Amino acid sequence: MTDPVLRVSGLAKTFRIGFLRKKVEAVRGIDFEVRDGETFGLLGPNGAGKTTTIKMVLRLIFPMAGTIELFGDRHGRAETMKQVGYLPENPYVYQYLKPLEFLDLCGRLAGMDAASRKKRGREMVERVGLGHAVDRPIGKFSKGMMQRIGLAQALLHDPALLILDEPMSGLDPIGRKEVRDLILEHRERGKTILFTSHILSDVELLCDRVGILQRGKMTHYGPLGELLRPETRRVEIVLTQVSDALRDELEDLVADVRAVEGEVVVHVEGADGGQPVIERAVQAGAQIVSVTPARETLEDLFVRDALANARPDSA
Ligand SMILES: Nc1ncnc2c1ncn2[C@@H]1O[C@H](COP(=O)(O)OP(=O)(O)OP(=O)(O)O)[C@@H](O)[C@H]1O
Ligand SMILES: [Mg+2]
Repeated sequence: MTDPVLRVSGLAKTFRIGFLRKKVEAVRGIDFEVRDGETFGLLGPNGAGKTTTIKMVLRLIFPMAGTIELFGDRHGRAETMKQVGYLPENPYVYQYLKPLEFLDLCGRLAGMDAASRKKRGREMVERVGLGHAVDRPIGKFSKGMMQRIGLAQALLHDPALLILDEPMSGLDPIGRKEVRDLILEHRERGKTILFTSHILSDVELLCDRVGILQRGKMTHYGPLGELLRPETRRVEIVLTQVSDALRDELEDLVADVRAVEGEVVVHVEGADGGQPVIERAVQAGAQIVSVTPARETLEDLFVRDALANARPDSA
C-alpha cells in the first residue's frame, strides 16, 4: 500500500481567550490518515475543531502537540504546500478584482506560468458557473458566488490534495449539486480530497471514509459503512382506513403514531417490532400502504454520538 497523503498524529491545539486567558481546548490529541485518491470527510458539530485541524494541516496555525506529515514531509516545505488546494471556510478575497484577475493572482502565488494561468483561469471560471460574472468585481458577489470563486481558486493549479472547509455552505440545492459534481470529477481524476461539512447527505454521497470530531476528540473514524449500525433499527408502517379504536390500540402498542393527510404513520423501534402492528391492523380492517425498514443514517449516528458526548467542558 502507498503512503498516505496526510498523516496526523497526536495533534492538539489550545487557544487562550479573553482577559482571563481562559483555555479553549479546540483539538485534543487526534490521529487520522487521508489515503492517496480517497475522499475523506471531517465531520462534527459547530465548534468541534474541524477548521482548527485544517488550519494546522495547512500550517496557518501551529499545533501545541503532535505531528503532521503531508506527502511524507513533516516540515511543510513550499514544494509540498504547492500540491495542496484550499478553500477556506470564509473565503476572503480582494474586493476590487474581477474573477480572472483574482485567479491570475492566485496562479502567480502558486507558481504557475502566464499561459497556464490564463488558460486555467478561464476554464475554472466557466467550470464553477461564473462565466456570466467575469466583469463584476468580487466584492459585489453573493455568498454562493463567493464560494464558487473560492473553489475555482482552490482547483486552479490542479492540486493533488484538495482541502475544502464547508464547501457546500451558502449554496442553494443546485449549487450544492454542482459543487458535489466538481468534487466527484476531481476525485475521478485520482486526486485526494479532505473536506468538512455539516450537510450529511452530501457526505454520504461523497466520502470513502470519515472522521467525526466531538469537542476536539475523534469519536469515530473509518469507512461510513462500518460506522453506521448495519442492523435494521426502525420500521415505518403507513396505514389507511384506520378506525379510532384501532388507532387507540396502536398508540398503546407503540409510542409513535401520527395522522398525516388521511393516513396513519407508525414508527416502530427494532427490526421485528413491525410484525404485531401489521397483524393487528389487518385484523381490524385497515389497509397497509407501505412498510419501510430504515437503517441508521449518518444523521442518526451524529445524534447518538452527540448525546453520548454531551458532558460539561471539563470532561
Ligand atoms: N483563534 C481562536 N481563538 C480562540 N478560540 C478559537 C479560535 N479558533 C477557534 N477557537 C475555538 O476552538 C473551538 C473549535 O473551533 P473550530 O472553528 O475549529 O470549530 P469547527 O468544528 O470548525 O466549527 P464550525 O462547524 O462552526 O465551523 C471552538 O470552541 C472555537 O471557539
Ligand atoms: Mg469550521
